[in-house]
Amino acid sequence: MTTSIYEQPGYHGWLNYSRIEDEQLRAAYANYGSSITVLGDSPILQSAAEELTTALASLLGLEPVRRESLSGEGIQGIVAGTRDALKQSVLEGTTKEELGDEGYEIRTVDRAIVVSAEQDKGVLYAVFHLLRLIQTGESISQLQITERPLNKLRMINHWDNMDGSIERGYAGRSIFFNDYNFRGDSRRLKDYARLLASVGLNAATINNVNVHRIETQLITERYLQDVAQVAEQFRAYGIQLYLSINYAAPIELGELDTADPLDPDVKAWWGRRCEEIYRHIPDFGGFLVKADSEFRPGPFTYGRDHADGANMLADAIAPYGGQVIWRCFVYNCLQDWRDRTTDRARAAYDHFMPLDGKFRNNVLLQIKNGPMDFQVREPVSPLFGGLEQTQHLLELQITQEYTGQQRHLFYLVPQWKTILDFDTHARGTGSTVAEAASGRLFGQLLGGIAAVTSIGDDANWTGHGLAQANLYGYGRLTWNPATAAEEIASHWIRMTFGADAEVERVITDMLLASPDIYESYTAPLGVGWMVNPNHHYGPNVDGYEYAKWGTYHFADCHGIGVDRTVESGTGYVAQYHEPWSKTYSAVETCPDELLLFFHHVPYRHKLHSGKTVIQHIYDTHFEGAEKAAGLLEQWDSLRDRMEPGLHAGVRERLAHQAKHACEWRDQINTYFTRKSGIADEQGRTIF
Ligand code: GCU
Repeated sequence: MTTSIYEQPGYHGWLNYSRIEDEQLRAAYANYGSSITVLGDSPILQSAAEELTTALASLLGLEPVRRESLSGEGIQGIVAGTRDALKQSVLEGTTKEELGDEGYEIRTVDRAIVVSAEQDKGVLYAVFHLLRLIQTGESISQLQITERPLNKLRMINHWDNMDGSIERGYAGRSIFFNDYNFRGDSRRLKDYARLLASVGLNAATINNVNVHRIETQLITERYLQDVAQVAEQFRAYGIQLYLSINYAAPIELGELDTADPLDPDVKAWWGRRCEEIYRHIPDFGGFLVKADSEFRPGPFTYGRDHADGANMLADAIAPYGGQVIWRCFVYNCLQDWRDRTTDRARAAYDHFMPLDGKFRNNVLLQIKNGPMDFQVREPVSPLFGGLEQTQHLLELQITQEYTGQQRHLFYLVPQWKTILDFDTHARGTGSTVAEAASGRLFGQLLGGIAAVTSIGDDANWTGHGLAQANLYGYGRLTWNPATAAEEIASHWIRMTFGADAEVERVITDMLLASPDIYESYTAPLGVGWMVNPNHHYGPNVDGYEYAKWGTYHFADCHGIGVDRTVESGTGYVAQYHEPWSKTYSAVETCPDELLLFFHHVPYRHKLHSGKTVIQHIYDTHFEGAEKAAGLLEQWDSLRDRMEPGLHAGVRERLAHQAKHACEWRDQINTYFTRKSGIADEQGRTIF
């Protein structure tokens, strides 16, 4: 007998609501959880009521009584609703302004827990928060919680194609599309929407930024009804639907012979498109656009700039309240490796800084976290703190394209925190990326974070069972970037695996150690790119060295790294505010982990750590491979403490990682021994 996908290990992720074992705790929760009153019946409130009912039944083993209005005998149990519905009778304190559109309050008031918000969406978020407290074993008898998200836009980007494949997807096929049709798997879409909403995500694009021929038609009658159905399912969980569009759609669809943004026919064409889209989806979020990037069409073809391109679309969609999200991933992807003056790292800033302030107020620029492309280690893109008059989003990658493709363990939350906490110094200290992206730093209305999702139709969504922590953590950080990586890990583990202190200890250790482990046996000191071309998996030191993509390390027999200084290099460092520009410029002050990103140094150059570059490479690669094997041992110690299928699935991947880390170690160490002619001080085996 085959088990349905819904019963397979990991399907319910962190919303599996396993029964709480501790009897006392269960009884304490039951004091409140045996009665649920949700005021109102909008689709979002229905979702909230349904979530509460099924979750509490499962966590507490009881059938909560459902009420639709407040009873005369005073409030009891869990009571949820907007402040209007609750008439604020039980609430005082927080003002409407403090709470904002999506914020909420959770208060214990005598025998009740009151969950309230300005809008339905806030009520849903509050319900998920309350459930999290119960899932993680927190006391709920004296709650005084007020929450609101830092970011207005908390977005997921899918790179799904309509044939069902996923660009850079490592967890099966698309949950939306198959064979150029919509799959219509409403159960799966609903469960995905629940996972997203539970961590506060509120927007999603469902198709790849590389919009191919058929996908161009998503904005036409052929598919709009199907798109509308997905939008409806997402809407019930507060998630607004966006689409990636093809900039040359008027041409591709055979209706015009130009896509020139200044041509009145083109403007009118997009106007008609928008009208049609909004007829089907009245709350459609807007367009995500990859233009003039990696062979995608864009305004450059017509001698126009990206402000012309984005503003034309923005004007077309503005009457309906939509937005245009315009990506800054624009660079010369036909570079000659012999040419050392062109620097891909400079490209986004060089293209977009001159346009700062020229975009409409419903345009957001979407900026990848680093200047290259989601490498394990990169400096932060200088557009953060650079752009002062243009709204923007930070773009992260949850799918592990360059971080082990969900076969290696890589907890991304610490990396994202480093990025979000980076102080750009644009307006003195405290000008962090989190503040810039949210829009707060420069007083902008809109801002936020988007990330390429990691999910596919694998039963456990993310392939690697522990990679779910990244999707979970991403949502939590978009809501509040100040949340600690440890706290996120611990919540995720308790929600997913239940209350077992040993499981929590071991997995927390593994997650937190994982980024350093992966970094240590792959590309050293911020240099990046030592991967196999195209699929980007596994070691290949020169894989991109003579390529057209602008991705070089310049290793020779003397040294390695890219000189990006003003004095002798590409000048990229000058794109940063002080003190960064100066700090990165000097070999003496540049942080070790980014040294080869900014400088070309001899192999015997001494790092701050006291080691030479070459010895650092050897040591980290030997240690990294050893630690990867250690992850497997740690996991094995948990064998009897969880569902066997869950354990086995992760075990298989960790075993692969341990082996593959040795391949990385040996290729990298061998390459550098041969190049440099310098032996390992410890005389370990290098081939
Ligand atoms: C990377 C990735 C591509 C993707 C591109 C993008 O280069 O490898 O698959 O299309 O980023 O972000 O647009």
